[in-house]
Amino acid sequence: MSERSYRTRPIGPADLASGFRSGTHPLDDYFQRHALPNDQGDVGRAYVLDASTEDIAAGLPAVLGFYTLSMASVASQDVASVLAKRLPRYPLPVALIGRLAVDERARGRRLGETLLLDALTRAVEASQLIACLGVIVDAKDAAAEGFYAKYDFVTVDDASWPRRMFLPMHIARAAFEDD
Ligand SMILES: CC(C)(COP(=O)(O)OP(=O)(O)OC[C@H]1O[C@@H](n2cnc3c(N)ncnc32)[C@H](O)[C@@H]1OP(=O)(O)O)[C@@H](O)C(=O)NCCC(=O)NCCS
Repeated sequence: MSERSYRTRPIGPADLASGFRSGTHPLDDYFQRHALPNDQGDVGRAYVLDASTEDIAAGLPAVLGFYTLSMASVASQDVASVLAKRLPRYPLPVALIGRLAVDERARGRRLGETLLLDALTRAVEASQLIACLGVIVDAKDAAAEGFYAKYDFVTVDDASWPRRMFLPMHIARAAFEDD
């Protein structure tokens, strides 16, 4: 896993004027209109990744990426095959990475990986306090599915979410123990 020199922090009002642009309309619309109110309303925590002074001098925006984290639940049968163990039949607790994006001018610099590992670190920490079977993402297309698959997320069967992916918490936890 890569050296993480970039840090994330909770979103603030000034970030909306940072010029962040993923190039994907629903993600940019979410960042501009919903990320801050949802964070303030306890609907979805949003974390942003600050550019370095060198990045800003090179003309990049002050925010280079963001992601959101929320509690969520999954149907037991959706994750049973991945976990390969008996589970209760009622909905089970997971963490959800709802949105994750890197500015389109800063792609290919491992910032997507930095954001994802940061989100997983927070989810692992949260799982010490509130039980959580794993992390889910709803990949928006085949490319996003390929990105998450690199980090051991597997696509699960879910009739309402065609590209729902799941990473068991014990695997996320073990990855950080190895660091
Ligand atoms: C997907 C995204 C976050 C990747 O960010 P990035 O900073 O360009 O990616 P990184 O440099 O961190 O790449 C890390 C690894 O993922 C791979 N990767 C990056 N984008 C990928 C893609 N679209 N498909 C498959 N693999 C991808 C890289 O090749 C690299 O793999 P390697 O370890 O073999 O070298 C970015 O392209 C993005 O914001 N896309 C638009 C929003 C989006 O699709 N978000 C996903 C959630 S729906």
